[in-house]
Amino acid sequence: MRYSHILGTGAYAPKRVLTNQDLEKIVATSDQWITERTGIKERRIAAEGEVTSDMAVAAARQALAMAGTRPEDLDMIIVGTISADMPLPSCAVIVQAKLGAKRAFAFDLSAACAGSLYAMSIADQFIRSGKAERVLVIGAELLSRLVDWTDRNTCILFGDASGALVMGPSPEAGRGLLSTHLHSDGTAAGILTIPGGGSQHPQSEEVLAKKMHKIAMNGREIYKFAVRVLPEVILEALNANGLTADDIDHIVSHQANARIVESVLERLNIPLEKCWLNLPRYGNTSSASLPISLDEANRAGRLKQGDLIAMMAIGSGMAWGGALMRW
Ligand code: ACO
Repeated sequence: MRYSHILGTGAYAPKRVLTNQDLEKIVATSDQWITERTGIKERRIAAEGEVTSDMAVAAARQALAMAGTRPEDLDMIIVGTISADMPLPSCAVIVQAKLGAKRAFAFDLSAACAGSLYAMSIADQFIRSGKAERVLVIGAELLSRLVDWTDRNTCILFGDASGALVMGPSPEAGRGLLSTHLHSDGTAAGILTIPGGGSQHPQSEEVLAKKMHKIAMNGREIYKFAVRVLPEVILEALNANGLTADDIDHIVSHQANARIVESVLERLNIPLEKCWLNLPRYGNTSSASLPISLDEANRAGRLKQGDLIAMMAIGSGMAWGGALMRW
């Protein structure tokens, strides 16, 4: 049986830092409220003229260098994003052109904050089946342009960034992605949306006036949903592999809110120290968050060969998933 593995990781965040103190000058909020409710201290904001594909390419170049893979050797590029450069074409084909990855086919994947985990799962299927040898998986989001900067419920949460993984066949049997488990529940679609700009509410003066092209969120419902389904999906992954929570060496999670991560780990009886938390520095970077965490933990030398990594992510949809990887 052929397994897929991560051969290289990369991450990128724009230079401009927006702190909680900066936000105090924009909306009625405080550093104390944001820190206590979310764990976020600062986030990055893309420069004027910088677009999602630029950030995606910056992370991808790092991952390709680590993997020793040339862009022209890539078979497939998947970009998990809800904030592509434009509605059409995909961000992934723009990334393909910027990298010069001539042989690869490329497409975007829309699963919001679960986008990179969904993309990893698809890459895994192609690699396991022998249809692809080198796949570039990217999570890239430029949410600062989709946020209503007068809405304190949402504007304090998000940051711009990207993360990338180069995946290929595992060098050894039993190492690499052990399994992935994806779920969706469209009956909860209304709790996190950008309602305007699609076929239901096409761009119009009314859509702009009502700010329907910006992120709208019911934070409390998302919170309840996340802390219910994320422990379930980690247990599902452990059961599928005959493992227990005690076997997990590292948790690599999408980071929406420190309290969500803490609550999920408490329910699983996993110490928080096993999770690489970067939320205080980047905020919620949606699909980028999981590959950035993996890259940071990897470059910090935290991940040792043979370690068991549990991954989890959840986003609008609701769409969520879990995965187990033997590093
Ligand atoms: N600063 C100060 N006060 C605020 C702010 C703010 N930025 N935002 C909301 N408040 C106020 C509210 O108006 C409310 O005031 P009221 O009691 O006078 O009405 C009070 O704070 C409490 O508001 P809640 O929304 O009930 O606060 P809660 O404790 O639920 O925290 C939060 C809100 C942080 C959004 C939390 O619900 C959460 O993290 N949910 C998850 C949402 C999330 O992560 N979304 C990201 C996208 S989805 C994903 O990535 C999985």
